[in-house]
Amino acid sequence: MSIDAVVETIGWVRAWISDPLHVGAVVPSGRALAELITSEISPATGPVIELGAGTGAFTRALRARGVAEESLALVDDGSDFVRRLKGRFPYARILLMDATRLKDVELFGGKAAGAVVSGLPLLSMPPKKVIAILEGAFGHLRADGAFYQFTYGPRCPVKRTLLDRLGLKATRIGRVVANVPPAAVYRIRRRPSRPLAAASVRRERSAAEPDV
Ligand SMILES: C[S@@+](CC[C@H](N)C(=O)[O-])C[C@H]1O[C@@H](n2cnc3c(N)ncnc32)[C@H](O)[C@@H]1O
Repeated sequence: MSIDAVVETIGWVRAWISDPLHVGAVVPSGRALAELITSEISPATGPVIELGAGTGAFTRALRARGVAEESLALVDDGSDFVRRLKGRFPYARILLMDATRLKDVELFGGKAAGAVVSGLPLLSMPPKKVIAILEGAFGHLRADGAFYQFTYGPRCPVKRTLLDRLGLKATRIGRVVANVPPAAVYRIRRRPSRPLAAASVRRERSAAEPDV
């Protein structure tokens, strides 16, 4: 292990001891999880926003996939993490802020992002916070953009009712056993809006034929 990696791990463990729910994991994500969560991303994706970048495990994987530093916006609310990210990715846009405030910032000169990669501990956040994060993120994403989220839990960390309310749909794209702890990755996209004609036909039919 390099000196850099040792210093990084010590910093991480310190942050985890002071606020375990906020940091969300006892060690940074491993390489296999970083590869899975970035697997659908390439330079053609366009700008990418990373939420909860921490020590940059996913940032390194995004760079390895050819995403330019200038096409990255990294968000974390930990000042030590942000200081290190700035040293490591000097050309990326790095924001020290709560991800719930995403809707208040302009990124990439107003150009829409193609993907959001999130390492945020959504499972330990109240629904109000999760809604603010998703609304902010989708406000920055192109219509066909995707939000990638990992979880240690058995299902998507965003509840179905909340996804429905926001017009979103989650699909599990894979699971990594070789991570501490094992994790799954979900892709969250906007639901295709139902064609108007089909919706109105359904409404007329349900008015004429009540449920039995
Ligand atoms: C589980 S760690 C993930 C770090 C890195 N992406 C990884 O996978 O190794 C969660 C990160 O989210 C950050 N974080 C937690 N809540 C946040 C919030 N509301 N806004 C911004 N960052 C947050 C923490 O500081 C921490 O760096």
